Amino acid sequence: MRIAVIGTGYVGLVAGVCFADSGHTVVCVDVDEEKILRLRQGESPIYEPGLEELLHKNLAAERLAFATDLPAAVKASEVVFIAVGTPQGADGNADLRAAMNVANQIADAAERPLIIVNKSTVPVGTAARMQAEVAARTQVGIDVVSNPEFLKEGAAIDDFLRPDRIVIGAGSERARAVMSELYAPFVRTEGPIYFMDPRSAELTKYAANAMLAARISFMNEVAMLCERVGADVDSVRKAMGSDERACSRRRPPRTSGKGACAESASASGASPSSRRPTTCGRRRRWP
Ligand SMILES: NC(=O)c1ccc[n+]([C@@H]2O[C@H](COP(=O)([O-])OP(=O)(O)OC[C@H]3O[C@@H](n4cnc5c(N)ncnc54)[C@H](O)[C@@H]3O)[C@@H](O)[C@H]2O)c1
Repeated sequence: MRIAVIGTGYVGLVAGVCFADSGHTVVCVDVDEEKILRLRQGESPIYEPGLEELLHKNLAAERLAFATDLPAAVKASEVVFIAVGTPQGADGNADLRAAMNVANQIADAAERPLIIVNKSTVPVGTAARMQAEVAARTQVGIDVVSNPEFLKEGAAIDDFLRPDRIVIGAGSERARAVMSELYAPFVRTEGPIYFMDPRSAELTKYAANAMLAARISFMNEVAMLCERVGADVDSVRKAMGSDERACSRRRPPRTSGKGACAESASASGASPSSRRPTTCGRRRRWP
């Protein structure tokens, strides 16, 4: 398949290199000309174990290219990923200007049906907004898919090649089929693709971030308590973590009723908004 990835930061570069390594023809696009020049020479702007090796291998095989010309990349592709930054603004909301701008540029350049896959972390409803804006700009059939990213910096290549999960929010059969084909090389029996609608996919990313933030905050409180009472936090942590209800892969938690998780979630007043989760006043980056 011919793929364009717009934005060669952590997420875009890792995705582009890994899709190329699985046999697709990939062009990665960025507005940062210096970054593109370095990448063309096989120099990665970030350090990730295994990244530079895959970069060299796929550049040499001519499956991977780097460019600044977005319209040309779109015209040559069937699937276009958006992986630009969506930083948190002063009001706490995600700044969607770059992502929406890229979606509009894709629509203006499209000459035949294609799929826009949004990998940037965006609030619920963004795919629907993109779909409407794109449809208003072009007669070409474009499906907007939500495909949030869960990689961890420092283990990004491994996370992409062997993901815990792949979440795909797609509204059409055509988009589902294309996404299944794209991710087929990375799917293992215990790391399945979760297909859903775009809103659910967008919410999954925020909910997963919020759950991790809550767990870290909670464990920090437990560690402080351990210190105060003279208990060993590692022993407590290991024994707590062995409870299947806390982190079960086999038994999904109840979505309503009297489960402890449901009660604490509703007590926290958690609501699906575009605000990023924070951890008890500590500064931490939530992708
Ligand atoms: N870094 C992570 O660990 C991580 C993990 C999961 C999700 N995410 C999410 O993925 C998205 C991308 O994150 P990142 O860390 O890769 O960002 P980044 O800031 O490292 O990279 C973004 C890239 O997009 C480029 N860009 C900006 N506007 C552009 C445009 N109009 N056309 C082409 N390129 C453009 C920038 O020059 C930059 O190279 C964000 O929404 C982030 O929240 C990040």
